[in-house]
Amino acid sequence: MKQKTILMVCLGNICRSPLAEGILASKCEDLNVVVDSAGTSAHHVGEGPDHRSVHIATINGIDIGDQRARKLMKSDLEDFDYIFAMDSANYNNILKLATNDEDRKKVKLILNESNPGQNKAVPDPYYGGDQGFENVFTLLEEACEVIKNKLKNEFDV
Ligand code: 4NP
Repeated sequence: MKQKTILMVCLGNICRSPLAEGILASKCEDLNVVVDSAGTSAHHVGEGPDHRSVHIATINGIDIGDQRARKLMKSDLEDFDYIFAMDSANYNNILKLATNDEDRKKVKLILNESNPGQNKAVPDPYYGGDQGFENVFTLLEEACEVIKNKLKNEFDV
């Protein structure tokens, strides 16, 4: 299998996209897949994931503690094969960095993988409690299972 590169994108790169990165990476350990994540804002650059994301990942057997937040760059649009946005605000901000149709086609709303055509958002859990993070984990787990199966079968994601 030719290597595929996947970028997960949220606002801060400390809550949702680190979980998406960790979940997909853990599912793709035996596949030739590189997973990374980034944020559309620079507010938390250099920070580790939110402790609530670290916790929900840990109790599901996934270690995301070594991740560090970074800001999405224009070059990411060229460098990655697929870019998954957590919500429509991030989706629109990612598209602003695209310069051609090929790159625009790489950008997708992640929950359209598990809920095709519904344009659902992964809710921002930052200001809520632990339950928000459990919900985010469940939504991302479902979407990443679909993505992994597409990658495994070399379907277009
Ligand atoms: P994320 O969550 O985009 O899933 O990483 C957020 C993290 C930080 C903030 C908002 C959302 N913030 O406003 O600082």
